[in-house]
Order: sequence, then structure tokens, then C-alpha cells
Amino acid sequence: MVANTLLAVQQQIERVPQLVSQNFKPVLYGGIIAFLFTSFLVTRLIQRKKPAPRRANSPDLEKPSSRKPTSKGPERTPGVWTPVDFKWPDPPPYPGWDVYKTDPLPYRPFKHGPYHITMGLRTMQWDDWIELDNHYLKFHADKKRRIEERGATHCRTAPEAMDGAIELLEELCDYLPQRYPTLYRKTPVGIDNIVTGECFNVTQRPLPEDPMQTCARLVQDDLAIMFEGSDGQYYLLAGAILLAGFWRLSDKFGMPLSEIHTSGDVPGFKTKLEKGMMNFFRRVQPNGPVLRNNYFLQVDDELAWSSSIGAEDGDHTQAVGWDTAEKNKAIEHHFFRSERQSLRRLPRSGGVVFTIRTYFEPVTAIAKEPGVPGRLASAVRSWGDDVSKYKGRERYQDVLLEYLDEQHRQQVERGVIGENYAEEDEGRKYPY
Ligand SMILES: *[C@@H]1O[C@H](CO)[C@@H](O)[C@H](O)[C@H]1NC(C)=O
Repeated sequence: MVANTLLAVQQQIERVPQLVSQNFKPVLYGGIIAFLFTSFLVTRLIQRKKPAPRRANSPDLEKPSSRKPTSKGPERTPGVWTPVDFKWPDPPPYPGWDVYKTDPLPYRPFKHGPYHITMGLRTMQWDDWIELDNHYLKFHADKKRRIEERGATHCRTAPEAMDGAIELLEELCDYLPQRYPTLYRKTPVGIDNIVTGECFNVTQRPLPEDPMQTCARLVQDDLAIMFEGSDGQYYLLAGAILLAGFWRLSDKFGMPLSEIHTSGDVPGFKTKLEKGMMNFFRRVQPNGPVLRNNYFLQVDDELAWSSSIGAEDGDHTQAVGWDTAEKNKAIEHHFFRSERQSLRRLPRSGGVVFTIRTYFEPVTAIAKEPGVPGRLASAVRSWGDDVSKYKGRERYQDVLLEYLDEQHRQQVERGVIGENYAEEDEGRKYPY
């Protein structure tokens, strides 16, 4: 059974602080709670170069956090995590799930203006940790190809983060077969993919490939794990970032959270996000997972890497950014890119794991949905200067807004939505 189809790509974990560009989107969010941290967790690690700023990803989420600060955990020494014996309840199978038939969830996480910069966290139900749908096979094939082409730069685990990466892999081997029993089967040594025929033996040592890379094959998400250093900062020490569109793991690997954001020019980071985010990371506990959603516009149809902002394999000392993007491309080239991120602390290693699931559709497709063109136009208009710069609005707004306004006008004319749609829409259930 162990026909391990994994590629044995042994990673070199050179701590490469490359120059930067985008930011580390996932990393943005606040929340609460505390705990004890363990020894093997990172300490200083990493010295980094000064990153060249550039565009990044959004801290958006117009929705203020609905999550209340829950109890604080006990005080603990920075960088020290004491493993906790915590196990999630077994998830039930996803109702009616089918790898060919289940559509992606229609996240439309934008609101009528005004726009607020917040972390936008909400509580995650454990059952919902990983979302898979009928794009799975495409995502899986894209990832497989990119692992072959770029696994060494796009999937990495620092030695001190290895236990956390293995813990994540083990958690997926436990969760996925229960949640998606028609796709995954648990085995005595790991997990089998019933549809692709892959078999993963996760008990082998050394593992045949970076465990983050194996995790990446199992889900549609990109994955990252942050570890607390003795200085209390959180460092990006494990990741499989294969379909992120706007940022490269090699630009951010080893960086602390704050630098990931400042190097990515995340709007409002210092003034509105940093403190809450740091508190969230220190306090988040294994039983307090959260979710957030965000969105971007992109002016090419490439899920894995938006080449409009520069070459993926280009010189890492050159920033990539919106200034290279062609202006006012036809609406057919406009794509709506949205992320659903989850954050939770792993109970054994204490690492904070991010899952970053991208949903990607033509603007012309989502603009057919009732209310969406009007609401998206309002949201895009409400971005402040810094958010607009970050999201590259100047490059596409003329074409995009004209199109959305026209679609909205037609929806009103046809009676698809009412005149007072913006008010009626207030009752809409975020993030749909
Ligand atoms: C899985 O790996 C372990 C450790 O190398 C090995 O002993 C075992 O035979 C393997 N199991 C299968 C089913 O291949």
C-alpha cells in the first residue's frame, strides 16, 4: 500500500531571509488567550536583511471581530510551550460531500462602505477546519506540479519547527478521513487518498519529503506555522506556500510577524493591527481556533502566481508589485481572489498554524450574483489610499468600476435587487 508517490525532496533549510515583497497575508489577525510555551520552540533564529517593501496582502476584513477576548491562559515564559493534552472532538463527515460535485463555498467577504481595517476574526467550529470541494483535483495537480518545479523554495521547515510540522501532518491524517471519508482513508501508518491513489506513510523517519509538503498535497490550502521565540515574537518557520498568488515563502521565511507585515506594506499595520495581532498570537490556545476572510482583485487568470505583479522566479532583490501591472485590462482578465484563513495553536508543539485557502473566480462570474456587483463596487470605492495602493486599485479601477456599476444598474432594472439594496443587504450573513 505504501506506494508512496511522494517526491523525496529534501529541503535545505538555509535560513534565507530574502528580500521581500508582498507580505504574509495569512499572518494578520488578532484574537486572544494564553498558554505555556515549550522549549524546542524557536529562539532568535534568523537574522534577516532589510526587506524591500512592496505590495502585500490584505488585512482587510471590514467586519470588526465578533470574537470576544476569552479567558487569558496562565502566564508563561516567552518561547516556552508546555504540551497540552488536548484533542478535538471527531468531526462528522461533511454532509453529502463529493469530490466532483461539491461546489466551492461562495465567500463574498466585502461590504458596502465604509471600509475598516481590522483583523476580522470569528470563531471557527472545529468540524470546519479544512474545506475541500470540486476544485480539489485541480488544486492538487497544480500543487504537485509546483512541488516538482519549486518545492525546495516553496515548502520549508526549519529544524526547530520539525516537530510542529509533523504534528500538523498527523492532525490532518486524523481529521481528513473522518471529514471526507470518500476521499481519504486512515491507515495504520498514515493516510491514503482514495481518489488519486496516493499512500502516505507518516511513520517513516526520515520522512520522504518535508512534512509541510505532504500536508500541502492533502488539502487545497497553503499552510504556514509560526513559532514563538524567547523574545515573544512569532517567527515563520514552516510553510508550504504553493498557490499564494502574491507572495513567496522564500521572501518571508524566518521573519517575525511584524516584519512580515511591515515589509509587505500592510496598510494600517502599525496603527491598527499590530498590537491586537501580537496579543492574539500569544494568547491563542488549542481550543480557540479562529477564521478570517479577505479578498483581492487580480488582473490575470493565474491562481498560483499573479504574474501581473512580476515574475515569480525573478530576482528576489527586486520587489514585485502593482506598478508593473498593465493598466485597465479588459474585464475578462479581472479575477476575484478571496482567502479563507484559519488559525489555531497546535497542542503539542505550540506552533500557531495558518491554513490559507484561496477561492478564485472571474469577476464576470461573481457579478452575476444578485447584489454582488453593487456591493463590490461600493467596497472597492471605500478603500482608503493605503489600502488602494496595497490592493493595486489604480491599475484596474476604471474598467472594474464601470463594469460593476453597469451590472448593478441592470440588476436593479430587472428587479433582481431592490432600489434600497444597500440597506437590505445589511442583514446579509458575512462572509457570504
Ligand atoms: C511505514 O514506514 C515504517 C517505518 O519506516 C515501516 O516500518 C513500515 O513498514 C511502513 N509501512 C508501510 C505500510 O509501508
